Amino acid sequence: MSLPKKTRVAILISGRGSNMVSVIEAAKAPDYPAEIALVLSNRPDAGGLARAAEAGIPARAIDHTLFASRESFDAALDAALREAGIELVCLAGFMRIFSAGFVEAWAGRMVNIHPSLLPLFRGTHTHEQALQAGVRLHGCTVHYVVPELDAGPIIAQAAVPVLTGDDPDSLADRVIVQEHKLYPKALALVASGQAPLKNGRVDFAAAQGAKGALHSL
Ligand code: GRF
Repeated sequence: MSLPKKTRVAILISGRGSNMVSVIEAAKAPDYPAEIALVLSNRPDAGGLARAAEAGIPARAIDHTLFASRESFDAALDAALREAGIELVCLAGFMRIFSAGFVEAWAGRMVNIHPSLLPLFRGTHTHEQALQAGVRLHGCTVHYVVPELDAGPIIAQAAVPVLTGDDPDSLADRVIVQEHKLYPKALALVASGQAPLKNGRVDFAAAQGAKGALHSL
């Protein structure tokens, strides 16, 4: 029996691309529902570009500094995605805010990973924010992208304890391990059509399987 057609995914990065690598690795499995067809960076110096190229994936930069406006940069991005036949966009440390038009054009077809348990700690410096707030559990969230930053419907989350003596770096190290596990799983769910966006909510096709709870003690 032949496998169903794979969803063509583009990963957008701005930096080292460790989440990108975790998705590329997962997508090597024959039964993974997505194929990573393109990697784009808004920064030519992003370390992840070389890592994508090493993995044999078409990778290039579209340097946002060469565009006069946010809209013109987004239009170039949109053209590159469409040219490559991309069906689903996966943001992995992409540090540019999109115009509302771009987000609307990809509504329900663009996901992001954020290093906090949303809706807590939107924006940047999430590990500092978590330590400052004194939460005992922290983590990461995969969500659909909507025009409001880090406010989209939540697809999946992973939690880690905040330990006595943690600093932002030690907390980030604990969270990123879970990011690398969560993102490939969440992307598979979306790419296979099992978690579509419907009326502003994630409409899961099946009951989610996680059992048990994570306690900070
Ligand atoms: C990750 O912590 C991700 O959650 C956030 O940016 C960071 C990117 O790291 N959006 P990497 O480039 O995937 O290593």
